[in-house]
Amino acid sequence: MRFTSEVANYENQPHQPVLCAETATYLVTISDGLYIDGTLGFGGHTQQILNRLGADGKIFGFDLDPEAISYCRQRFRGESRLRIIQESFRELDQMMQAQNIFANGVLLDLGLSSLQIDNPQKGFSFSCDGPLDMRFNPKRGIPAADLLNTFRESEIADIIYQYGEERRSRQIAKRIVKYRRNKKISTTTELVNIIHSVSGHIKTVARVFQAIRIAVNDELNALKDALIGSQSILSSGGRLVVISYHSLEDRIVKRFIQNAESTCVCPPLIPICQCNKQQEMKVITRKPITPSGEEISKNPRARSAKMRVAEKV
Ligand SMILES: C[S@@+](CC[C@H](N)C(=O)[O-])C[C@H]1O[C@@H](n2cnc3c(N)ncnc32)[C@H](O)[C@@H]1O
Repeated sequence: MRFTSEVANYENQPHQPVLCAETATYLVTISDGLYIDGTLGFGGHTQQILNRLGADGKIFGFDLDPEAISYCRQRFRGESRLRIIQESFRELDQMMQAQNIFANGVLLDLGLSSLQIDNPQKGFSFSCDGPLDMRFNPKRGIPAADLLNTFRESEIADIIYQYGEERRSRQIAKRIVKYRRNKKISTTTELVNIIHSVSGHIKTVARVFQAIRIAVNDELNALKDALIGSQSILSSGGRLVVISYHSLEDRIVKRFIQNAESTCVCPPLIPICQCNKQQEMKVITRKPITPSGEEISKNPRARSAKMRVAEKV
Protein backbone atom coordinates (compact mmCIF):
# COMPACT_ATOMS: atom_id res chain seq x y z
CA MET A 1 0.00 0.00 0.00
CA ARG A 2 1.27 3.55 -0.74
CA PHE A 3 0.20 6.51 1.34
CA THR A 4 2.74 9.19 0.43
CA SER A 5 0.26 11.75 -0.95
CA GLU A 6 -1.06 12.35 2.58
CA VAL A 7 2.30 13.19 4.18
CA ALA A 8 2.49 16.84 3.17
CA ASN A 9 -0.64 18.23 4.79
CA TYR A 10 0.37 18.61 8.44
CA GLU A 11 3.37 20.91 8.44
CA ASN A 12 1.77 23.88 10.25
CA GLN A 13 0.19 21.92 13.10
CA PRO A 14 1.57 21.86 16.68
CA HIS A 15 2.27 18.17 16.13
CA GLN A 16 2.67 16.34 12.83
CA PRO A 17 0.83 13.02 13.15
CA VAL A 18 3.02 10.05 12.26
CA LEU A 19 1.90 7.40 9.75
CA CYS A 20 -1.37 9.30 9.57
CA ALA A 21 -2.89 7.91 6.38
CA GLU A 22 -1.72 4.38 7.24
CA THR A 23 -3.32 4.62 10.69
CA ALA A 24 -6.74 5.64 9.43
CA THR A 25 -6.66 3.07 6.63
CA TYR A 26 -5.86 0.17 8.95
CA LEU A 27 -8.09 1.37 11.79
CA VAL A 28 -11.36 2.28 10.09
CA THR A 29 -13.09 -0.78 8.69
CA ILE A 30 -16.70 0.39 9.13
CA SER A 31 -17.55 3.97 8.20
CA ASP A 32 -20.33 4.24 10.78
CA GLY A 33 -18.35 2.46 13.47
CA LEU A 34 -17.18 3.59 16.89
CA TYR A 35 -13.47 4.30 17.38
CA ILE A 36 -11.23 5.24 20.28
CA ASP A 37 -8.20 7.48 19.91
CA GLY A 38 -6.42 6.76 23.20
CA THR A 39 -3.82 9.48 22.56
CA LEU A 40 -5.75 12.40 21.07
CA GLY A 41 -2.82 14.86 21.28
CA PHE A 42 -3.52 17.69 18.85
CA GLY A 43 -6.05 15.69 16.90
CA GLY A 44 -4.09 14.91 13.72
CA HIS A 45 -4.99 11.22 13.68
CA THR A 46 -8.50 11.92 14.92
CA GLN A 47 -9.08 14.34 12.03
CA GLN A 48 -7.92 11.71 9.55
CA ILE A 49 -10.23 9.13 11.16
CA LEU A 50 -13.15 11.60 11.10
CA ASN A 51 -12.49 12.12 7.36
CA ARG A 52 -13.11 8.41 6.83
CA LEU A 53 -16.23 8.20 9.00
CA GLY A 54 -19.82 8.68 7.89
CA ALA A 55 -22.42 10.81 9.66
CA ASP A 56 -23.15 8.08 12.22
CA GLY A 57 -19.53 7.28 13.03
CA LYS A 58 -18.16 8.18 16.49
CA ILE A 59 -14.77 8.75 18.11
CA PHE A 60 -13.89 8.91 21.79
CA GLY A 61 -10.62 10.83 22.18
CA PHE A 62 -8.57 10.41 25.38
CA ASP A 63 -5.56 12.41 26.54
CA LEU A 64 -3.99 13.29 29.88
CA ASP A 65 -2.50 16.61 28.84
CA PRO A 66 -4.77 19.60 29.65
CA GLU A 67 -3.21 21.68 26.84
CA ALA A 68 -3.91 19.00 24.23
CA ILE A 69 -7.47 18.67 25.53
CA SER A 70 -8.23 22.39 25.36
CA TYR A 71 -6.60 22.68 21.92
CA CYS A 72 -8.81 19.86 20.60
CA ARG A 73 -11.95 21.29 22.23
CA GLN A 74 -11.32 24.41 20.13
CA ARG A 75 -10.21 22.59 17.00
CA PHE A 76 -13.20 20.26 16.91
CA ARG A 77 -15.93 22.53 18.30
CA GLY A 78 -19.19 21.70 16.59
CA GLU A 79 -17.94 18.20 15.66
CA SER A 80 -20.72 16.07 17.12
CA ARG A 81 -19.07 12.75 16.20
CA LEU A 82 -16.17 13.33 18.62
CA ARG A 83 -16.27 13.08 22.42
CA ILE A 84 -13.15 14.37 24.19
CA ILE A 85 -12.18 12.87 27.55
CA GLN A 86 -9.30 14.01 29.79
CA GLU A 87 -8.37 10.63 31.19
CA SER A 88 -5.62 8.04 30.89
CA PHE A 89 -5.95 5.40 28.19
CA ARG A 90 -5.40 2.82 30.91
CA GLU A 91 -8.97 3.58 32.04
CA LEU A 92 -10.56 3.26 28.62
CA ASP A 93 -12.06 -0.19 29.18
CA GLN A 94 -13.67 0.82 32.48
CA MET A 95 -15.12 3.96 30.93
CA MET A 96 -16.48 2.13 27.89
CA GLN A 97 -17.76 -0.88 29.85
CA ALA A 98 -19.60 1.45 32.25
CA GLN A 99 -21.61 2.64 29.24
CA ASN A 100 -21.78 -0.81 27.65
CA ILE A 101 -19.89 0.44 24.59
CA PHE A 102 -17.81 -1.74 22.26
CA ALA A 103 -15.38 -0.29 19.75
CA ASN A 104 -14.55 -1.10 16.14
CA GLY A 105 -11.02 0.18 16.59
CA VAL A 106 -8.59 1.51 19.18
CA LEU A 107 -5.56 3.67 18.34
CA LEU A 108 -2.60 4.24 20.68
CA ASP A 109 0.03 6.66 19.31
CA LEU A 110 2.48 6.46 22.19
CA GLY A 111 5.07 8.90 23.43
CA LEU A 112 5.10 12.68 23.31
CA SER A 113 3.73 15.32 20.99
CA SER A 114 6.11 17.87 19.48
CA LEU A 115 4.55 20.64 21.57
CA GLN A 116 5.23 18.67 24.76
CA ILE A 117 8.87 18.12 23.74
CA ASP A 118 9.39 21.75 22.73
CA ASN A 119 7.74 23.34 25.79
CA PRO A 120 10.54 23.91 28.36
CA GLN A 121 7.95 24.17 31.17
CA LYS A 122 7.10 20.47 30.75
CA GLY A 123 10.70 19.42 31.43
CA PHE A 124 10.75 16.65 28.80
CA SER A 125 13.59 18.09 26.73
CA PHE A 126 17.26 18.01 27.62
CA SER A 127 17.99 20.72 25.06
CA CYS A 128 16.17 23.52 26.91
CA ASP A 129 16.31 24.66 30.51
CA GLY A 130 13.12 24.22 32.51
CA PRO A 131 11.62 22.72 35.66
CA LEU A 132 12.11 18.95 35.92
CA ASP A 133 8.46 17.95 35.75
CA MET A 134 7.78 15.45 32.90
CA ARG A 135 4.18 14.68 33.86
CA PHE A 136 1.66 14.44 31.01
CA ASN A 137 -0.92 15.81 33.42
CA PRO A 138 0.75 18.21 35.89
CA LYS A 139 -2.02 17.54 38.42
CA ARG A 140 -1.31 13.80 38.67
CA GLY A 141 1.60 11.94 40.22
CA ILE A 142 4.93 13.37 41.29
CA PRO A 143 7.26 15.53 39.17
CA ALA A 144 10.60 14.12 38.02
CA ALA A 145 12.46 16.43 40.43
CA ASP A 146 10.67 14.85 43.44
CA LEU A 147 11.53 11.38 42.18
CA LEU A 148 15.23 12.26 41.81
CA ASN A 149 15.34 14.04 45.18
CA THR A 150 13.59 11.36 47.25
CA PHE A 151 14.09 7.89 45.71
CA ARG A 152 16.91 5.66 46.98
CA GLU A 153 20.08 5.46 44.90
CA SER A 154 19.36 1.82 43.99
CA GLU A 155 15.82 2.70 42.86
CA ILE A 156 17.10 5.50 40.62
CA ALA A 157 19.77 3.19 39.18
CA ASP A 158 17.14 0.52 38.42
CA ILE A 159 14.90 3.05 36.68
CA ILE A 160 17.79 4.28 34.50
CA TYR A 161 18.85 0.71 33.69
CA GLN A 162 15.42 -0.79 33.04
CA TYR A 163 13.69 2.11 31.30
CA GLY A 164 16.73 3.72 29.64
CA GLU A 165 18.79 0.57 29.00
CA GLU A 166 21.80 2.67 30.09
CA ARG A 167 24.77 0.67 31.31
CA ARG A 168 26.22 3.54 33.40
CA SER A 169 23.04 3.60 35.48
CA ARG A 170 24.75 2.96 38.86
CA GLN A 171 27.37 5.70 38.32
CA ILE A 172 24.74 8.22 37.25
CA ALA A 173 22.49 7.38 40.23
CA LYS A 174 25.47 7.80 42.56
CA ARG A 175 26.19 11.28 41.13
CA ILE A 176 22.54 12.28 41.46
CA VAL A 177 22.50 11.31 45.13
CA LYS A 178 25.84 13.06 45.76
CA TYR A 179 24.55 16.25 44.09
CA ARG A 180 21.28 16.34 46.02
CA ARG A 181 23.11 16.17 49.40
CA ASN A 182 24.11 19.81 48.82
CA LYS A 183 21.23 21.10 46.73
CA LYS A 184 17.90 19.74 45.51
CA ILE A 185 17.77 19.03 41.79
CA SER A 186 15.08 21.16 40.21
CA THR A 187 15.93 21.85 36.55
CA THR A 188 16.63 19.93 33.35
CA THR A 189 20.02 21.69 33.05
CA GLU A 190 21.10 20.44 36.47
CA LEU A 191 20.22 16.87 35.46
CA VAL A 192 22.04 17.23 32.13
CA ASN A 193 25.17 18.50 33.94
CA ILE A 194 25.08 15.62 36.42
CA ILE A 195 24.82 13.10 33.55
CA HIS A 196 27.64 14.89 31.67
CA SER A 197 29.88 14.47 34.71
CA VAL A 198 29.66 10.70 34.03
CA SER A 199 29.39 10.63 30.23
CA GLY A 200 29.61 13.24 27.48
CA HIS A 201 27.45 11.19 25.10
CA ILE A 202 24.19 12.79 24.06
CA LYS A 203 22.67 9.29 23.80
CA THR A 204 23.29 8.75 27.52
CA VAL A 205 21.43 11.98 28.32
CA ALA A 206 18.56 10.92 26.03
CA ARG A 207 18.37 7.49 27.68
CA VAL A 208 18.28 8.92 31.21
CA PHE A 209 15.57 11.45 30.29
CA GLN A 210 13.53 8.68 28.65
CA ALA A 211 13.91 6.48 31.73
CA ILE A 212 12.82 9.17 34.19
CA ARG A 213 9.86 10.13 32.01
CA ILE A 214 8.70 6.51 31.76
CA ALA A 215 8.93 6.15 35.56
CA VAL A 216 7.15 9.45 36.30
CA ASN A 217 4.19 8.53 34.11
CA ASP A 218 4.30 4.76 34.78
CA GLU A 219 4.19 4.48 30.99
CA LEU A 220 4.93 0.79 30.47
CA ASN A 221 2.32 -0.39 32.97
CA ALA A 222 -0.19 2.07 31.49
CA LEU A 223 0.52 0.56 28.06
CA LYS A 224 0.06 -3.01 29.32
CA ASP A 225 -3.26 -2.05 30.96
CA ALA A 226 -4.40 -0.26 27.80
CA LEU A 227 -3.62 -3.26 25.57
CA ILE A 228 -5.62 -5.62 27.81
CA GLY A 229 -8.41 -3.06 28.12
CA SER A 230 -8.53 -2.44 24.37
CA GLN A 231 -8.80 -6.13 23.60
CA SER A 232 -11.71 -6.47 26.01
CA ILE A 233 -13.73 -3.60 24.51
CA LEU A 234 -13.10 -4.36 20.83
CA SER A 235 -15.98 -6.00 19.02
CA SER A 236 -15.24 -8.95 16.77
CA GLY A 237 -13.36 -7.71 13.68
CA GLY A 238 -12.34 -4.56 15.58
CA ARG A 239 -8.74 -3.41 15.18
CA LEU A 240 -5.99 -2.40 17.54
CA VAL A 241 -3.41 -0.02 16.02
CA VAL A 242 -0.37 0.90 18.11
CA ILE A 243 2.45 3.25 17.11
CA SER A 244 5.49 3.01 19.38
CA TYR A 245 8.72 5.00 19.40
CA HIS A 246 11.23 2.90 21.32
CA SER A 247 12.10 -0.75 21.72
CA LEU A 248 10.67 -1.16 25.24
CA GLU A 249 7.20 -0.14 24.05
CA ASP A 250 7.41 -2.08 20.79
CA ARG A 251 8.47 -5.25 22.63
CA ILE A 252 5.42 -5.03 24.91
CA VAL A 253 3.08 -4.51 21.94
CA LYS A 254 4.66 -7.30 19.88
CA ARG A 255 4.50 -9.82 22.75
CA PHE A 256 0.94 -8.87 23.63
CA ILE A 257 -0.25 -9.38 20.07
CA GLN A 258 1.71 -12.64 19.68
CA ASN A 259 0.21 -13.95 22.91
CA ALA A 260 -3.31 -12.90 21.89
CA GLU A 261 -2.87 -14.67 18.55
CA SER A 262 -1.48 -17.91 19.96
CA THR A 263 -3.64 -20.94 20.64
CA CYS A 264 -1.32 -22.44 23.25
CA VAL A 265 0.81 -20.89 26.00
CA CYS A 266 1.90 -24.14 27.68
CA PRO A 267 5.62 -24.41 28.59
CA PRO A 268 7.62 -25.85 25.62
CA LEU A 269 8.36 -29.19 27.35
CA ILE A 270 4.70 -30.15 27.84
CA PRO A 271 3.90 -32.59 24.97
CA ILE A 272 0.11 -32.13 24.91
CA CYS A 273 -1.54 -28.73 25.29
CA GLN A 274 -3.19 -28.27 28.66
CA CYS A 275 -3.93 -24.55 28.61
CA ASN A 276 -6.84 -24.72 26.12
CA LYS A 277 -6.17 -21.12 25.21
CA GLN A 278 -8.35 -19.66 22.46
CA GLN A 279 -7.03 -17.33 19.77
CA GLU A 280 -8.16 -13.81 20.68
CA MET A 281 -6.56 -11.67 17.98
CA LYS A 282 -4.95 -12.12 14.59
CA VAL A 283 -1.95 -10.16 13.38
CA ILE A 284 -2.64 -7.88 10.41
CA THR A 285 0.88 -6.50 9.99
CA ARG A 286 3.37 -9.37 10.38
CA LYS A 287 6.23 -6.84 10.21
CA PRO A 288 5.76 -3.38 11.75
CA ILE A 289 4.88 -0.54 9.37
CA THR A 290 7.48 2.24 9.41
CA PRO A 291 7.40 5.76 7.92
CA SER A 292 8.59 6.29 4.35
CA GLY A 293 11.80 8.20 3.58
CA GLU A 294 9.60 11.08 2.40
CA GLU A 295 7.75 11.24 5.72
CA ILE A 296 11.01 11.10 7.73
CA SER A 297 12.57 13.89 5.67
CA LYS A 298 9.51 16.08 6.37
CA ASN A 299 9.20 15.01 10.01
CA PRO A 300 12.47 13.59 11.44
CA ARG A 301 10.72 12.82 14.75
CA ALA A 302 8.85 10.07 12.90
CA ARG A 303 12.03 8.09 12.24
CA SER A 304 11.75 5.66 15.17
CA ALA A 305 8.02 4.94 14.72
CA LYS A 306 6.75 1.36 14.40
CA MET A 307 3.11 0.61 13.82
CA ARG A 308 1.56 -2.78 14.63
CA VAL A 309 -1.99 -3.79 13.83
CA ALA A 310 -4.06 -6.70 15.15
CA GLU A 311 -7.71 -7.66 14.74
CA LYS A 312 -10.03 -9.21 17.30
CA VAL A 313 -11.30 -12.61 16.15
C1 LIG B 1 2.45 11.20 20.11
S1 LIG B 1 1.27 12.13 20.98
C2 LIG B 1 -0.22 11.82 20.09
C3 LIG B 1 -0.39 12.73 18.93
C4 LIG B 1 -1.71 12.56 18.22
N1 LIG B 1 -1.87 11.26 17.65
C5 LIG B 1 -1.91 13.62 17.16
O1 LIG B 1 -2.16 13.28 16.00
O2 LIG B 1 -1.80 14.81 17.49
C6 LIG B 1 0.98 11.17 22.41
C7 LIG B 1 -0.09 11.75 23.31
O3 LIG B 1 -0.41 10.74 24.26
C8 LIG B 1 -0.73 11.39 25.47
N2 LIG B 1 -0.60 10.38 26.52
C9 LIG B 1 0.51 9.83 27.03
N3 LIG B 1 0.20 8.93 27.97
C10 LIG B 1 -1.15 8.88 28.04
C11 LIG B 1 -2.08 8.13 28.81
N4 LIG B 1 -1.70 7.23 29.70
N5 LIG B 1 -3.40 8.34 28.59
C12 LIG B 1 -3.82 9.25 27.68
N6 LIG B 1 -2.99 10.00 26.93
C13 LIG B 1 -1.67 9.82 27.11
C14 LIG B 1 0.25 12.52 25.55
O4 LIG B 1 -0.21 13.53 26.42
C15 LIG B 1 0.32 12.98 24.09
O5 LIG B 1 -0.58 14.02 23.85
